[in-house]
This record gives sequence, C-alpha cells and structure tokens, in this order.
Amino acid sequence: MSAVLSMRNVGVSFRTADAAQPAPAVDGVSLDIHRGEIFGIVGESGSGKSTLANAVMGLLPPNALVSGSIRVNDREVVGLSDDALRSMRGDEVSMIFQDPTASLDPTWPVGDQIAETIRAHYPVNARDAKARAIALMGEVGIADAAARYGDVPHRFSGGQRQRIVIAAALANNPQLLVADEPTTALDVTIQAQVLQLIDRLRRDHGTTVLLITHDLGVVSMVSDRVGVMYGGRLLETAATRELFANPSHPYTRALLAANPAGAPRGTRLPVIPAAWNIESLREAELLRAAAGAVND
Ligand SMILES: Nc1ncnc2c1ncn2[C@@H]1O[C@H](COP(=O)(O)OP(=O)(O)OP(=O)(O)O)[C@@H](O)[C@H]1O
Ligand SMILES: [Mg+2]
Repeated sequence: MSAVLSMRNVGVSFRTADAAQPAPAVDGVSLDIHRGEIFGIVGESGSGKSTLANAVMGLLPPNALVSGSIRVNDREVVGLSDDALRSMRGDEVSMIFQDPTASLDPTWPVGDQIAETIRAHYPVNARDAKARAIALMGEVGIADAAARYGDVPHRFSGGQRQRIVIAAALANNPQLLVADEPTTALDVTIQAQVLQLIDRLRRDHGTTVLLITHDLGVVSMVSDRVGVMYGGRLLETAATRELFANPSHPYTRALLAANPAGAPRGTRLPVIPAAWNIESLREAELLRAAAGAVND
C-alpha cells in the first residue's frame, strides 16, 4: 500500500541573525502514513511538531531550510513552487492550526468564510456554496447551522469555533488532514467530541490524519500509531497500544512513567531535563544500531 504521506530524513533549520549555524528544529525524520490512518505525534513544547507539520504543508517561513524528502500522494513537496503548494493545499491537504481563533476572520460571518473556502476550490455558485457550508457546519455538530450561518466568530463558544475551523478545513474534502493541537484550547468534553469527529471523518471519507499534540490522552484516544518527538527527532514510532504497553525508547518510558495513570485525558507531557537527553540519545543510537532499525 503506498503512503499518502511519506517523509525521508526530513530536516528543518531556521536561519537566525545571531546564530552562525542554523539551529535544527527537525532532524532526520522518516515516516510513512497510509490512507485512513490517524498518526499521532507527541512531544513536549519546542520539540519541532509544528515545524514538521508546516513543512508538510509547505508553510514554513522564508528563513527555514528544509532537507530530505516529503511526498504527498507520491509528489515531492520539498522545493515545490508556491503556486504548486497552494494548489496542493487546495486540492489534497488541509491543516487545522494550533490557534483556531487566529484562522478565522473576526469581522466576517463564519458561514461566508466556509463558503469562500469552498468557492476557492470548486466552481460552484454562491447559493450552492452556502448550502454546502451549512451542511458542513451541521456535519461538525453546529446545531441550527442554517440560522448560525451569518454569525461572526465571537458569537460562538471556543469549542464551536474549533468545529467551524474544522468545517473550513474539510471544505475541500482533503485526503490528508494535518491537525496541529486541534483540541488544546478545549475542555475535555468538547475535546472528546472533536476527536470523535476526526475519527468519524477517517471512517466515512478515508481521510488520513497527522494529529499533533502534547497530550498523551489525546493520542491514546484516536491514533492508530504514535511517534514520539524530542529535540526535533522522531525517537520512536509504534502502534498506539504497543507504545503504551511496551515503550522501547528511554524517553518514552520516562514520559509514561511520569503518567502512571495510563495517560488520562488532559495530561501534558512533562519536560524531561536536558541532561537526560545526551545519555538516552546515546542509548537510543545503540538500541537502533543493535536492532538495525530506523524510525519507520
Ligand atoms: N520561524 C522560526 N524561526 C526560528 N526558530 C523557529 C521558528 N519557528 C520555530 N522555531 C524553533 O523551532 C523549534 C521547534 O518549534 P516548534 O514550534 O516546531 O515546536 P512545537 O513542538 O510545535 O512546540 P509547541 O508544543 O510549543 O507548539 C523551537 O526551538 C523554536 O524556537
Ligand atoms: Mg507547536
């Protein structure tokens, strides 16, 4: 089965004014994600999760240097022109950003924002776009969607706004959905509903999902497989159940040990002291060499 998203040895560094060498934010990441699969990436703050997601979307800032290969449906994304990237984001891939409210215009009715996205991708007239926007709002669980079509974002709760962002991300019926912390701002009940929604999408439409979070409870709820990131590297990938039952990397073990209750919802990844890093990365290197295995 060919992968919807395939990464080989992906590296991202940022040129900064003060540093002679660009600092690597993502380092040597290799990964294949298949159709209909939900792949979770967990890692503490600053581990490179959003940078990796933005690299997939071709949305890195100009000071970023990308190396390696990122293929979406067998097409190379690294080095693709801005026009080609824009059309890929229109036709095949959508992203839910870490800050949902930032992706909605506060002055504009939410329904029109979704309809506009639809019209950017499909040659439909205004009336059909509106009908489809209302249907999408209903699909993500906004009650009375037709009546709420004309409301501006602040008339909705945080959870509803996040659903609207998801509805907009689904407007192009993406094959690949990259969701960067889609539930972080939400309380646990709404969080569970949004995750169920993502799970349903995958079941109903075969959507492939790259789900980024620093919440172990979130990955354990919906991901088929999980990758653990630390310091820009993908330390370990495993089937979700396998990872929780039998973590092979020392960092993963440290993480799970710090969450003895089996990662209840809302659990944040503890920041593991840097001194740990050198030792266990060395240990990881040895483990990998011994197993002859890499990340994928
Ligand atoms: N535009 C940029 N310029 C320079 N450095 C950057 C830029 N964006 C991110 N970085 C650096 O890259 C590293 C990874 O950041 P990233 O945002 O990917 O982390 P993250 O895992 O998403 O963290 P969080 O959980 O806090 O969202 C950090 O050290 C960050 O400072
Ligand atoms: Mg982030």
